[in-house]
Amino acid sequence: MSRTAAQIEELRNKVQQIESWYHRIDLGDGVETPGHFRMTDYLAHYNFPERMDGMRVLDVGASTGFFAYEFERRGAAEVVAVELPSWDAHDWTPRYRRGLERRPSSEKETVEREVMRDGFTVVGEAYGSTRVKRIWKAIYELSAAELGTFDLVFSGAMLMHVRDPILGIQRMRDCCKPDGRLIVSISTTMPDAKEPIAKFVGEWNQCNWWQMSPACLDRVLHCCDFTTIDHRSTYTLQDVTGQFHDPTYVCHAFPGTED
Ligand SMILES: C[S@@+](CC[C@H](N)C(=O)[O-])C[C@H]1O[C@@H](n2cnc3c(N)ncnc32)[C@H](O)[C@@H]1O
Repeated sequence: MSRTAAQIEELRNKVQQIESWYHRIDLGDGVETPGHFRMTDYLAHYNFPERMDGMRVLDVGASTGFFAYEFERRGAAEVVAVELPSWDAHDWTPRYRRGLERRPSSEKETVEREVMRDGFTVVGEAYGSTRVKRIWKAIYELSAAELGTFDLVFSGAMLMHVRDPILGIQRMRDCCKPDGRLIVSISTTMPDAKEPIAKFVGEWNQCNWWQMSPACLDRVLHCCDFTTIDHRSTYTLQDVTGQFHDPTYVCHAFPGTED
């Protein structure tokens, strides 16, 4: 797609109007979203199929959309990107939630527009996207009865924000085709050792609950009816400043065929 100088300027302005970007995304013509994480640098660790032609893909916790649009670029027939309907819909602690309720609604609207909505839309428009659709739901609300089943379900760096990650994984399992797969990444400071360890990391003013060791996530996936775990990978996610380091575990989980 070739853009005129005026279109490039317009795109640059739209990107600049959004203060908070999660992903750093190359939109072409020298325009890049000023996000914290350049996920293209880490794509090899996710072992996504090179081509996704014909696939239905569910991206749970899509944020500013790097992965959803990457799946479309790889040929996915349909990408359903799931994001929370509002900032309040996070699994906050009761104390943090009381504070949120006292904040002016204009402040909440700005956060929701800038952090949760507009970035994803601007990227989609810039790419001329036609096969990515966003829906507003918490992970707990995902169901095959409503959404159908998917060849690939992806959850990147979000299960630590979920109070009940096991229920979340069960919901994602429900949305997997029998011959599909779930690809999960989690942040974990724990080594890839044999013992399955879950650590509570909750703080009243954060939306972080559990850390799982790689073996723990594998066991949880088995308990949630995935029989095979493959493409296990660990890497350290860094932000673009190099100051933030987040050890990350990624794996693919395949549903079983037996009862
Ligand atoms: C750290 S970002 C990860 C973005 C992207 N998946 C990636 O891997 O780069 C986590 C995303 O999950 C979303 N999220 C948090 N809790 C959620 C929940 N309970 N259900 C659905 N999405 C949630 C957040 O709003 C945010 O967009």
